[in-house]
Order: sequence, then structure tokens, then C-alpha cells
Amino acid sequence: MKKIALVTGGDSGEYEISLLTAENIMNQIDKTKYEAFLIHLKNNNWTYTHTDGQVVEVDRKDFSLTLNGQKITFDGVFVAIHGNPGENGRLEGYFDMIGMPYTGCGTLSSALTFNKYYCNVVVRAMGVPVAPSLHYFKGEPVDYQAVAEVCGYPCFVKPCESGSSVGVTKVHDETELAAAIEEAFRYDSQLMVEKMISGRELTCGVIRHDGKIRSLAVTEIVARREFYDYKSKYTSGLHDLITPADIPDELRNLISRFSENIYHELACKGVVRFDFIATPEGTPYFLEVNTIPGQTSQSIVPNQIRFAGMELSEVYSSLIEEALR
Ligand SMILES: Nc1ncnc2c1ncn2[C@@H]1O[C@H](COP(=O)(O)OP(=O)(O)O)[C@@H](O)[C@H]1O
Ligand SMILES: [Mg+2]
Repeated sequence: MKKIALVTGGDSGEYEISLLTAENIMNQIDKTKYEAFLIHLKNNNWTYTHTDGQVVEVDRKDFSLTLNGQKITFDGVFVAIHGNPGENGRLEGYFDMIGMPYTGCGTLSSALTFNKYYCNVVVRAMGVPVAPSLHYFKGEPVDYQAVAEVCGYPCFVKPCESGSSVGVTKVHDETELAAAIEEAFRYDSQLMVEKMISGRELTCGVIRHDGKIRSLAVTEIVARREFYDYKSKYTSGLHDLITPADIPDELRNLISRFSENIYHELACKGVVRFDFIATPEGTPYFLEVNTIPGQTSQSIVPNQIRFAGMELSEVYSSLIEEALR
């Protein structure tokens, strides 16, 4: 039986979601093939809690545990941490350095996609529609005239690296810009100002199955607030997730094709979710990539997996086998 470390927690606003994601993965993981150990990472505390209650620290030299005098090493790691350090390449870099296999995207794909501005530049160069945006570093003056000309109002101000809409503001006019900039810089030293795209929010999960890149389904996200902000994301009743989205086949095919192409071009691995906003004319604008999408029982990707006719446990096994190969 293979020993797998399921890593959860992390140091972002999505800490709680990561715990739920890991719980669901733990429930679904095939126990006949894998012995899974839940490892909790928070700041500098990397620990495993034994069934008898004893808390053991992870040895960072080789990501091993010593339980009752016996050393446990892992065949691989299942990464279930959203945001820092699971989704931005930092943990992946560490595992690369110690030679530990892990599920999902590698260091470069994770780091690149985690910075929304850099990711936009690459995706735009692939010919996928992306809203125009501006990029600023903390301490640099924001060019108000450029914002008006390139983005107009309303526009979105967001930290380049964040998640769960934390630090994201919809800016209705110039009087709201300064506060939005200050808010975004609370979370990151880089921000972007992006033109608003009006339309339907659609998201597509992609997986590599039997060596072939395949989109799972397109889901529509209907936010019951002005946009899909933190509150609407995590309050039931403030959003609806519709799988499959009730959209024309042409739009569905376009989103699936764009998502598969980006997955391929950015050398993604594992299950990855691509977010878009489609205009009423049917043009999908790429918004962002989630390399560690939520996997709670309520999350979009598990629903898309079921819709695609696959079992979660089967998919998790295939992610682990892809990592160990
Ligand atoms: N350019 C945009 N046009 C319209 N809505 C946007 C735009 N950018 C962000 N949003 C809204 O803000 C939400 C959060 O932005 P996003 O870039 O996905 O950041 P996060 O990584 O925090 O989810 C999106 O789900 C969407 O509702
Ligand atoms: Mg998002």
C-alpha cells in the first residue's frame, strides 16, 4: 500500500476551505490502494496528528514523520492547499528540491498562473480574449488617466496574487480608485486594474485522463451580489452553481477549447479550473486559472467530475498515479 501525505491548511484566506477540501479528498481516496496521512501546514508548523492524539512534527529534510520511534516516509503528496503556499509554487519548489512527487501543477505553472497579471499576458499572447489591464507595484504612482483610457469605469482593482476575491474591488468611478488601490496593496505588492467585462461568469475544469487533456464541463456561476465577491462565494443562497451551464453549444465548445489549450500551453497537471466571463455576443474573456480548485463536497470541480461520468475516487487515484509516474 502506498503512503500518501495529504497536505492541508496553508497561509491564506482560504485556510478553512482547504480543510474542507482535504476532508472530502480523504473521504474519497481509495483506501485499498493508499494509506493517507493528513498533514497540516500553518506558518512554520507542519504537523501530523495521530489517531491517539499525539502531534508529530514533519521533518523537513525529507518530509517524513517519526511515529512511536518508527520513521514514516511518503511515496507522494496530495496538495490540497489553496493560495499560499500550495497554489503559488512555493510548496512545489520545496518538493522538487527534496525529490518528493506531488499531485497537480509544477512549480513554474503554479507560480505563473498565481500572478493574475503575468498569467493574463501569456494567455493573451495565445490568442484568447483577455480584458485590457494595467500593472502597478506598491510605491509607484497609479496613472489615473491611463486607467480611464485603458479600462474606463466601472473597472476592477485586484491584488495580482490573492484568492477568494480578497482585496478585489469593483470601482464605479475615479473617486473610488484610491481606496481600492489601498485595499489591494494590503494583500500584495503588485496590483492590476482591469477593464470590466459584463456578461455571464463561466468556469471549466480540465483534467489529463489516460494521457489526454479533457475538459469536464462548463459551470455557470450566478452571484447574487454585484460581483462574485468573498461574501457571495462563501454564503449559501448568495450564489448558484449550474452544471452544465445553460449556454449555446458554440460558447461551450469555445470555452472548453480555450481551457484545454491554456492547460496544455501552461504545462498544467492534475485538475485545473479556468474562469471566464462571456459577453452577450458570446465572446468568452479569460479571467483566471485555479490550479488548486476547491474540492469540498459542494465545490464546482467535484460536480463537474460527476457530470463527466467519473467517480471522484477514481479521479483522485489517477491524480496520484500521474504524480508517482
Ligand atoms: N474584469 C472583470 N470583469 C468583470 N468581473 C470581474 C473582473 N475581474 C474580476 N471580476 C469579478 O471578481 C471576482 C473575483 O475576481 P478574480 O480575478 O476571479 O479573483 P479571485 O482569485 O480572488 O477569485 C470574479 O469572480 C468576478 O465576479
Ligand atoms: Mg476567481
